Amino acid sequence: MAAPTAHGHARKVGQFYSNVRQEGVDRRQTQRIIRMRNFNNFMKSILFNTYVKQGDTCLDLASGKGGDLNKWKIQRAQHVVFVDVAAESVEQSKERYENRHTKSFSASFHQADLTRASSDKWSPPLRDGIEFDCVSCQFALHYCFESESQCRQFIKNASERIKIGGVFFGTTPWSEEIMRRYRHAKKVDKKEEFGNSVYKVAFTRGARDPPRIFGATYHFQLEEQVDVEEFLVFQPVFADICKEYGLELVMRKSFKEFFEENREKNMDLLYRMDALETVTENGPREARRGLTYAHAEDVCDNTTVQVGSLSRQEWECASLYVVFAFKKVR
Ligand SMILES: C[S@@+](CC[C@H](N)C(=O)[O-])C[C@H]1O[C@@H](n2cnc3c(N)ncnc32)[C@H](O)[C@@H]1O
Repeated sequence: MAAPTAHGHARKVGQFYSNVRQEGVDRRQTQRIIRMRNFNNFMKSILFNTYVKQGDTCLDLASGKGGDLNKWKIQRAQHVVFVDVAAESVEQSKERYENRHTKSFSASFHQADLTRASSDKWSPPLRDGIEFDCVSCQFALHYCFESESQCRQFIKNASERIKIGGVFFGTTPWSEEIMRRYRHAKKVDKKEEFGNSVYKVAFTRGARDPPRIFGATYHFQLEEQVDVEEFLVFQPVFADICKEYGLELVMRKSFKEFFEENREKNMDLLYRMDALETVTENGPREARRGLTYAHAEDVCDNTTVQVGSLSRQEWECASLYVVFAFKKVR
C-alpha cells in the first residue's frame, strides 16, 4: 500500500516496492546479480563514510525497507528519520530497526509521498524544530522528476531542515548516459530499448528526443527487483533547483569514476562486502547464468593470476548511475 497522500504514479511505485520481497541473506547469496547488489551497497558505503559523521542527526529519504540501517549504525549516527511512500516498506524497516538497531541510534519512521507532502503532512508529521546534519537519498530521485512541482517538493523535503554546512548526498540514474545509449540503440539497432539479460530500459515508441525536462518516462526492468516506470533526472536541472533551495553542488561523478577513485583505498571493504567476482584466465570462481567476464579473463596472465570484477552485464547496468553531494550554504 502507498501513503494516503500519494497519487498517480507515486501510488503505483509505492505499491510496487511494498510488494517486492525482502530476501534473507541465504536467498540473496544465490541471486544471479548478487555481486552488483553488493557493489551498489559498496558505493553507498563510501558515500556514507565520506559524508556522515559520528553523532549526526540524519534523514533517509525514500528509505525503502531500511537497506541502509547498518550503514547508519556503522557511521554512529545519533538519530535517523526514515521516510518512504510504501507503507509495508516503512513497516518492515521499523521492524528491522526494532529487532537489531535500537541500541545503536534513535529513529523515527514516516510514510509520505515526498513529491507531494511537506514534512508537516507526513504520517506521522516530522518533529518540529529537528535539524539534520545530513540527508541521504539512494536510488530514488528518479521518481520525483514526474513534474516540476513534484521535483521541487521533493528537493524542498531534502533541503528544508539541513543545517548550514550540512550535506545532501545520494545515488541516481545518469540520464545523459541513458539518452546516449537510447540514441545509439535507435540508430544502430533500430530499437527504442537497450539493455542485456540483467536490465532493460525501454522508451515508448517514438519517444520525444530531445526529451521533455519533467515527465520523460522510460520503463526500467532489473532482474527480480524493479519493473516500473521511471523519469529521467536531468542533472543540470536538478542542480539548478537545489541551488534555489540553498544547496550547492560539491560533487557529482559517474559510478565508474567514483569507483576508480575509491577502489584502492577501500580494498578491505570491497572484499568484505563481496562486491566483485574473482576471475582467473579460466573464468569466474562462481559462474552465474548468462554473466560473462572476458574483459577480466583477458587481463589475467602469469603475473596477474586473478582479478576482482563485475560481469560485463552487471557493469553495463551499474555504470548507468551517478553519485552526488550538495552542501547547504544558506
Ligand atoms: C530503489 S528503492 C531504494 C530504497 C532505499 N533508498 C535503498 O537504497 O535501499 C526506491 C524507493 O523510493 C521510494 N519512492 C518512490 N517514489 C517515492 C515518493 N514519491 N515518495 C517517497 N518515496 C518514494 C520507493 O517506495 C522505494 O522504497
